[in-house]
Amino acid sequence: MTNTEFKKQVAEGIPSELPAIKLYDKNINHAPKRKDILNDNEKHLAIKNALRYFPEKFHSVLAGEFAHELKTYGRIYMYRFRPDYEIKARKIDDFPYKSRSAAAIMMMISNNLDIAVAQHPHELITYGGNGAVFQNWAQYRLTMKYLSEMTDEQTLVIYSGHPLGIFPSQKFAPRLVVTNGMVIPNYSSQDNWEKFNALGVSQYGQMTAGSYMYIGPQGIVHGTTITILNAARIISRSVNRPGIKLFVSSGLGGMSGAQPKAASIAGLISVIAEVNPKALKTRHSQGWVDEIFQDLDKLITRLRYLIDNKTVTSIGYEGNIVDLWEKLTEENIYVDLGSDQTSLHNPWSGGYYPAGLSFDESNRMLSENPERFKDEVRKSLRRQVEAINKHTAGGTYFFDYGNAFLLEASRAGGDILKKDGDFKYPSYVQDIIGPMCFDYGFGPFRWVCCSNKASDLNATDDIALNILLKLIKESPDEITQQLKDNIQWIREAGKNNLVVGSQARILYADARGRMEIASAFNKAIADGIVSAPVVIGRDHHDVSGTDSPYRETSNIYDGSKFTADMAVQNVIGDSFRGATWVSLHNGGGVGWGEVINGGFGMVLDGSSESETKLRNMLHWDVNNGIARRSWARNKEAMFTLRKEMERTPGLKVTIPYIADDKIIDEALS
Ligand SMILES: NC(=O)c1ccc[n+]([C@@H]2O[C@H](COP(=O)([O-])OP(=O)(O)OC[C@H]3O[C@@H](n4cnc5c(N)ncnc54)[C@H](O)[C@@H]3O)[C@@H](O)[C@H]2O)c1
Repeated sequence: MTNTEFKKQVAEGIPSELPAIKLYDKNINHAPKRKDILNDNEKHLAIKNALRYFPEKFHSVLAGEFAHELKTYGRIYMYRFRPDYEIKARKIDDFPYKSRSAAAIMMMISNNLDIAVAQHPHELITYGGNGAVFQNWAQYRLTMKYLSEMTDEQTLVIYSGHPLGIFPSQKFAPRLVVTNGMVIPNYSSQDNWEKFNALGVSQYGQMTAGSYMYIGPQGIVHGTTITILNAARIISRSVNRPGIKLFVSSGLGGMSGAQPKAASIAGLISVIAEVNPKALKTRHSQGWVDEIFQDLDKLITRLRYLIDNKTVTSIGYEGNIVDLWEKLTEENIYVDLGSDQTSLHNPWSGGYYPAGLSFDESNRMLSENPERFKDEVRKSLRRQVEAINKHTAGGTYFFDYGNAFLLEASRAGGDILKKDGDFKYPSYVQDIIGPMCFDYGFGPFRWVCCSNKASDLNATDDIALNILLKLIKESPDEITQQLKDNIQWIREAGKNNLVVGSQARILYADARGRMEIASAFNKAIADGIVSAPVVIGRDHHDVSGTDSPYRETSNIYDGSKFTADMAVQNVIGDSFRGATWVSLHNGGGVGWGEVINGGFGMVLDGSSESETKLRNMLHWDVNNGIARRSWARNKEAMFTLRKEMERTPGLKVTIPYIADDKIIDEALS
């Protein structure tokens, strides 16, 4: 297809004639059938809702088709309206536009739905099983049309994938404001989500799916490497055990699949259990898992050899994590680090496969006897906890990986709570990412080169490296380790071949680092060293973007971890400080109703306006969270904030006085 024809089709929106029916492509990875949750009246409503995207003349044909989709797939995706052109990572100027910022957004949407990037591209799901960019193809088509025709004096508004419309605004305002899954808190249960989504009125946008900021597996490989590296440092400090370290966990799926690769980068042996043979094969063929075993006895023999010979290797075990933990107990193998990355944010619909059942048996039971399936999941979680407890009694450091393992294990009645009701084990944010990264402002800064050229990415890698090398010379000791890790990462980033889809990169940086790197990119664009604009952003797993009591804000101890002011304020503040787009989500990572998170995207085009915006917005985007973490008495955040106030005129933040617990205890006695 020529670029002119592509532009014409992108700008077309809902076609004036019905396009031909699209065959269900069995070669594509499709979303599983969703729960049949609507009653007859609600099914009627869902179809009526879907038909409002189309002129009346199409209704008699489409009503039957949508009823069939609802029955067969549990959702109305409007497959017929999937465009004929290939949706893939492209360069910015391939798109039709009046606003170049809007073209950058089209570029980011297209990357999120690229077949090589998205998990279920035809159901518009980018990752995490249910992380949606849009609910249906009509929303996609309309959004692309609006973006292609809007100007820099309008703002597009998207409600959970639905483009409400473009509204007059002004040049400095965001070009796009997205909300996903924003429902009244009392209606924010898992079943409510299934229902609203089936009705076509809400969606789960995960973090970077519904905010158009996904950059494929690279983001998660980097985050997981940082986590495992720092976890290994914690145990090296507390346990004086020589020799190579062993990491055990589960899941080789979308994000969890990064674990073996990250463990190898961090210099550990890893064994990761995965019940789905397809997922295991994919990771093995990518080289992210070195060896695979189905037989636990053979695995143990190999593992002993690797430990004795101090050989960094990653092993995938095709089987259940519960069986793996129990076998490791039986064989008395010392595990240094343990975690879990089954999809427990979604425990009842295939996120967690119970022990004692094969993968196929589980899938059958899931649709034929969902209540029995739930019982099996609970039983399995109790067994898993029991096995993990035996290891931790011997010294293993176990942490929750933000997948709601501790939460669901406790709900299942597992022996996972201390006497005071707290979990026995920390989340990875409590011990690792919170105090070592977030409280200093380090978080997942990322960028995408709008030329889609590897040469631009190389140029930006060099720029970022030089900035970090400059900053490390001037930085306090407290943050040199984080800077060193990221210098090492960015030096190797090109060699790791992690780009899938758009030419994108990630690293962890603090407020100053993010501002300096973005500013240097902007200058390089102005000087022609980088050939086209660069989009900067982050995932929502960050210092300020996310309120999630068992994950990002699990190291907040002043009782405010169940509040969401920080994430909401973050999006509001970013929007009037220069973000090109902002997004606010219910759900993401740990599940619907469990988290509020916000993100942004900003187009740097080499202009002086971009320079003003990036400085203004990135400063807030990081320091909002540091100020909140400081108010929660986190000492690393108090340190960072004091330094920031010395550096930044106009910044004046309320600092807590620290009360002596003895005084309070005496007052209460
Ligand atoms: N905190 C973070 O930064 C972070 C990072 C990555 C993932 N997560 C969380 O981790 C979870 C996994 O994410 P994902 O994208 O990899 O999901 P995914 O669904 O793609 O992968 C999970 C894998 O676990 C496997 N699995 C399920 N039950 C199992 C069992 N009992 N034994 C062995 N394997 C089993 C599944 O077959 C699947 O392949 C999610 O809940 C996600 O939110 C958090």
